[in-house]
Amino acid sequence: MAKATHMQDHFAQVAEHYRNVRTTDEAPIHYICQRLAERGCTRAADVGCGAGRYDLLLLQKMPELHLLCIDRSVEMLRHLTEHLREAGVDRFEPVQTGVDELRLKDNSLDAVFTFNAIHHFDFPAFIRNASRALRTRGQIFIYTRTPEQNAKSVWGQYFPGFLDKEQRLYSQDQMRTWVEASGCVLSNVETFQFTRRATVARLLQQAHARHYSTLSLYETQEFAEALQTFERNIQSQCNSSDAVVWDDENVLLVIESQPSN
Ligand SMILES: C[S@@+](CC[C@H](N)C(=O)[O-])C[C@H]1O[C@@H](n2cnc3c(N)ncnc32)[C@H](O)[C@@H]1O
Repeated sequence: MAKATHMQDHFAQVAEHYRNVRTTDEAPIHYICQRLAERGCTRAADVGCGAGRYDLLLLQKMPELHLLCIDRSVEMLRHLTEHLREAGVDRFEPVQTGVDELRLKDNSLDAVFTFNAIHHFDFPAFIRNASRALRTRGQIFIYTRTPEQNAKSVWGQYFPGFLDKEQRLYSQDQMRTWVEASGCVLSNVETFQFTRRATVARLLQQAHARHYSTLSLYETQEFAEALQTFERNIQSQCNSSDAVVWDDENVLLVIESQPSN
């Protein structure tokens, strides 16, 4: 309970700057849109939608889409609503609820998405809930990083204690086992690789903003010391243009509910 409250406070605090301090990947959105084009997608939900950076991309690329934007955080949903309205998009409905209390209508959706949020959820319960809501041949898309992928990131490599603190991420094997046990079908696991470049200033700005919730798990003094070491570590990695370069990797699980016939 204390952990859940801590996370809720964290997301309330970061909501205003969240989109600016995270790196948004367009490649998984292109992939999702291509997959959904085959069957059409008019109604979907994004669970743990945050401040709406992926929702805007989905809504722009799928002009027929109506999207339920679901999140526990009132602050995130406020910033999502502003963001989508400013972009002239109104085909969305913000829904403020925790995933445990979420009751999606049976057979009502073509797709359910979750980006960078599955490690905050009970995975089997999420799949059960989402698959019940899917229409025949509907799909669930889970974009996340595994513990191994986390270890390769600039944070995993150079921020002291980052990997020990982050114990919530699910391994690919664990997720596969849960999907199979649910009676759904894991139809694809797509890996995305990105070569990232960032200045030291940008990385420090992200860390100060606690852009990954992992960074909110440090005590104040512990964080200050880790941040100093991180700065030294990344300074030593800078190339001649003062940038740090590394490869990030993420994974997209594509899950189909069993056809009902
Ligand atoms: C890491 S953020 C990702 C936000 C967004 N998907 C993105 O990639 O920008 C995780 C989001 O999940 C939400 N969240 C965490 N636990 C939740 C829960 N149990 N029920 C609903 N939303 C939750 C948080 O409020 C936060 O907005």
